[in-house]
Amino acid sequence: MACTSGPVLWCWPSTCGSTEDLYQIGAGVSLPGVVAAKCGAEVILSDSCELPHCLEVCRQSCRLNSLPQVRVVGLTWGHLSQDLLALPPQDIILASDVFFEPEDFEDILTTVYFLMQKNPKVQLWSTYQVRSADWSLEALLYKWDMKCIHIPLASFDADRDDIADSALPGRHTIEMLVISFAKDRL
Ligand SMILES: C[S@@+](CC[C@H](N)C(=O)[O-])C[C@H]1O[C@@H](n2cnc3c(N)ncnc32)[C@H](O)[C@@H]1O
Repeated sequence: MACTSGPVLWCWPSTCGSTEDLYQIGAGVSLPGVVAAKCGAEVILSDSCELPHCLEVCRQSCRLNSLPQVRVVGLTWGHLSQDLLALPPQDIILASDVFFEPEDFEDILTTVYFLMQKNPKVQLWSTYQVRSADWSLEALLYKWDMKCIHIPLASFDADRDDIADSALPGRHTIEMLVISFAKDRL
């Protein structure tokens, strides 16, 4: 299963343990969500409503990994849909390599903000490949009353170019963030 930052998020839940309610956005091949489901988390996978083939990839990952209990829902970042409204509160949102197009950043945070209304303690765990040093989430996090901490890959032994039997991330620079509501909202 190829997944640029999946190996990093593969290691992180196995370090922390995760048996909570877990939601993956922009799931694609869904490696982190699949691993979390295998570890006992209650997982919902999502990808764009406008990309049915990507939703089919999510379903295929569930079939291939014998996970009939994992739901797959269509959710386009920034869209307030019936499926988003109907989601139960989540503990963790996984976002593997979704910050790749700056014009989508605010739509992603809008969706996360909506999920934070359902559970103010929800955390977004995201890994992404650094594609440009000019891109920053900082102003948007401030606007949406969120904070983030960087998780050093070394803290869970993921600072290698060969990880979890995958040659990815290779020479790419991969970072991990945990985004949550800013402190004064809790
Ligand atoms: C770079 S891929 C990452 C896929 C997977 N999470 C991984 O790490 O391999 C980005 C994913 O975001 C999804 N995506 C792109 N635009 C989207 C949007 N507007 N709303 C929801 N998902 C979107 C794509 O279909 C794709 O699965």
